[in-house]
Amino acid sequence: MILYNLYSSCMRPLLFMATPERAHNVVLGLARILSKEPLRSLFAQKVDYRPCEVMGLQFSNPVGLAAGLDKDGDAIDYFGALGFGFIEVGTVTPRPQKGNPKPRMFRIYSARGIINRMGFNNRGVDYLVKNLKKRSYSGIVGVSIGKNEDTPLEKASEDYLICMDKVYPYCDYISVNVSCPNTPDLTKLQQEEELMALLKPLKERQAELTEKHGKYVPLVVKISPDLYDHELQNVCSVCVDLKIDGINCTNTTVSRSIVHGMLHVNEWGGLSGEPLYIHSTRILRKVNNYLQGAIPLIGVGGISGPISAREKLYNGASLVQIYTSLVYQGPSVVKQIVNNL
Ligand SMILES: Cc1cc2nc3c(=O)[nH]c(=O)nc-3n(C[C@H](O)[C@H](O)[C@H](O)COP(=O)(O)O)c2cc1C
Repeated sequence: MILYNLYSSCMRPLLFMATPERAHNVVLGLARILSKEPLRSLFAQKVDYRPCEVMGLQFSNPVGLAAGLDKDGDAIDYFGALGFGFIEVGTVTPRPQKGNPKPRMFRIYSARGIINRMGFNNRGVDYLVKNLKKRSYSGIVGVSIGKNEDTPLEKASEDYLICMDKVYPYCDYISVNVSCPNTPDLTKLQQEEELMALLKPLKERQAELTEKHGKYVPLVVKISPDLYDHELQNVCSVCVDLKIDGINCTNTTVSRSIVHGMLHVNEWGGLSGEPLYIHSTRILRKVNNYLQGAIPLIGVGGISGPISAREKLYNGASLVQIYTSLVYQGPSVVKQIVNNL
């Protein structure tokens, strides 16, 4: 096995000399190459088997890759080989789109955070489906779905339905992203009426697609850490009423309170990584208190090692996901978390 501590001594310093987005593209390019055999086996990371069943799905361990890193599903096999129990790809939209102008990703180095305003840059759902079909990773794969930037909010459900129809046969769960702060007004879809109007047709379509494809694909809703208590309660009651299968707590935050004064924090966008941990865990705890186990929860936001992952589990999560700690610590963080849960 390749020495993974090479990441912090050699690879990260090199990558961090480049802009965050260029570094991201280099890593994804490499990951794509390493997705293929025999390189994949060479770089594979063996982690402990910690099986769990959530939403009726069997996971080899409860640690997943969060949405947004492999938006187009180009390197599912590589990330799978790192030991993740599940991979979430996307967020994908019906049509390809470029996202926001660059620069749109910033390192908050002193806090081990990232601010991003990518804006759902992706190659569109048809491209993603091709990659889903090609994968050899046998673990759980979720797809995060969204709407194109130029689709008006009132028509949002049409975009989500297009994506749902196309990815349904090729994935294990679908995550409905209504919490990205970088697509104009998207987070308004979390308001009670708007959420009901969006999710009801998706639940109805889920029933039709279950019949058509002979398999039930759970629907997860990913929420923002910036919701007020009454909004959170409304989101929870809509999800219970509609029998949503899972809630992902949380996306990135627009709050800067904890990183005030640090370099780049005046950039607009969503903050992830360690400074998000407190916000997202507080939301997770509240959702868990409201729901009392009625809906399984995925805890994401600021997990940087086994202790913060355990805290998410103690606060009600059945599964956890990481993104930013992979950027700062490299692949070894996956093994460290899985083996010490
Ligand atoms: C550059 C970047 C892009 C992201 N893109 C998406 C996305 O497309 N869809 C989504 O649901 N979340 C997206 N996220 C949010 C992550 O999935 C995750 O919820 C958030 O980063 C918190 O986890 P972390 O602190 O472990 O990074 C993105 C995060 C980053 C840093």
